[in-house]
Amino acid sequence: MKIKYTYYFIFSLLLSMSSAFAAKMPMPADAPASYESECASCHMAYPPGLLSEQSWKNVMSSLAKHFGTDASVDAKTQLEITNWLIKNAATRQKYSETAPENRITKTSWFVRKHDEVRPDVWKRAGIKSPANCSACHIDAASGIFSEKNIKIPAK
Ligand code: HEC
Ligand code: HEC
Repeated sequence: MKIKYTYYFIFSLLLSMSSAFAAKMPMPADAPASYESECASCHMAYPPGLLSEQSWKNVMSSLAKHFGTDASVDAKTQLEITNWLIKNAATRQKYSETAPENRITKTSWFVRKHDEVRPDVWKRAGIKSPANCSACHIDAASGIFSEKNIKIPAK
């Protein structure tokens, strides 16, 4: 009986730790200025911990054809951003898959975490796309994705 409780305790502890981890993905303090200026004008600056090393390499080596737009930068900036993204890329197994289409929003963890969001909700004018994290995660810019900090636009 006692052992059973101990296991239960450890299990709950692990569970709460893993969800706390998932809910917080802060922007590393050493982000180069170029990341803000080059990668946050069309969408938020995605925290690097949300994609694997390989996925960031794929994103950064195809900027001229970036989701239907041209997001290319000069060679020096490309190297600077790439190295920093790789250094801070996802390390935990859960986030480290190579993302389909280089999208955070196509990873299996993203799909699983958002299975309660109905397809028509993503299309609301105030949201437009699953990639628009900050439409619902009001503190996404600070890397906070916990349940308490979600407000889904009604339209
Ligand atoms: C000219 C505009 C523009 C710039 C600049 C830009 N992006 Fe994007 N990015 C887009 C668009 C458009 C999408 C697709 C958004 C959508 O599907 O709603 C996108 C999507 C992404 C995604 C995938 C989001 C998802 O669906 O999970 C990543 C990752 C990304 N961008 C990284 C970057 C990085 C890194 C840089 C800087 C080197 C950058 N972007 C600069 C326009 C831009
Ligand atoms: C339509 C609104 C909406 C958008 C847009 C959205 N999310 Fe979410 N997100 C949710 C909801 C709802 C949940 C589930 C909350 C829950 O039940 O814990 C969630 C859960 C999460 C979680 C898990 C949080 C936890 O406590 O385990 C993460 C991480 C996350 N989202 C990241 C993102 C990222 C990164 C983006 C953009 C690429 C994004 N989300 C876009 C609504 C949204």
